[in-house]
Amino acid sequence: MPRNKPLYIAFEGGDGGGKSTQAHLLKDALGENAVFTFEPGGTDLGVDLRRILLDPTIEELDPMTEAYLMAADRAHHMQKVVRPNLDNNNHVVADRTFVSSIAYQGAGRGLGVEEILNLNLMNKGLILPDLILIMAPPSRAELEKRLKAKPDKLESAGNDFHKRVAECFGQMAHILAGNSHTKDIDVITIQPESCGQPKSLEEVHREVIVEIEDFCSDRGLVSPV
Ligand code: TYD
Repeated sequence: MPRNKPLYIAFEGGDGGGKSTQAHLLKDALGENAVFTFEPGGTDLGVDLRRILLDPTIEELDPMTEAYLMAADRAHHMQKVVRPNLDNNNHVVADRTFVSSIAYQGAGRGLGVEEILNLNLMNKGLILPDLILIMAPPSRAELEKRLKAKPDKLESAGNDFHKRVAECFGQMAHILAGNSHTKDIDVITIQPESCGQPKSLEEVHREVIVEIEDFCSDRGLVSPV
């Protein structure tokens, strides 16, 4: 008999990959007992942390300070949003989680993927998502169209930085499978294009739904979609 359980599903990927839109579409598809949230900035305290982290006019942060502030935002977010909602039987759909820190601070800033994974695991209140959906980057031309005219601090960090971030997202399933704490997280990569053409929002959304149905059927859970 399939079980009911609130799911914690995180959307991940580089900037401009469409993850926020897909996270909102999924939240709507899950109905009333689902919440949308995001990192950094998904709490009142997080609003201030996000401003410090992303404002391009604020003096450049040392990478380790950036990593700690992301982890601090996350610790508060776990305690104030993710944990209470799961305890209330709400599904949680999140735009980003600790995996972004592995890619951006670990690989992008060069602090080391293992080091940043371990820094995040030091928080005993960290909740691991059931399923991580990584939106693979679109083609260069499509990406340039999508990125905002006024990039934030991380978006304007340069091509080599974003290349390292993208490569790390590409290896994320392998990185998480190699750690005893994170090895059971399902990591699925969704391609934004088929036959050289960008997929429509609806097409990607349908793929997301199929991934959730498959995840639930593999784990003996009632699918909420
Ligand atoms: P986000 O709001 O998802 O931006 P966007 O919608 O433009 O993708 O995230 C803001 C930025 O913060 C983004 O450039 C990724 C970065 N970030 C990190 O560097 N480390 C982290 O741990 C998180 C959660 C985000």
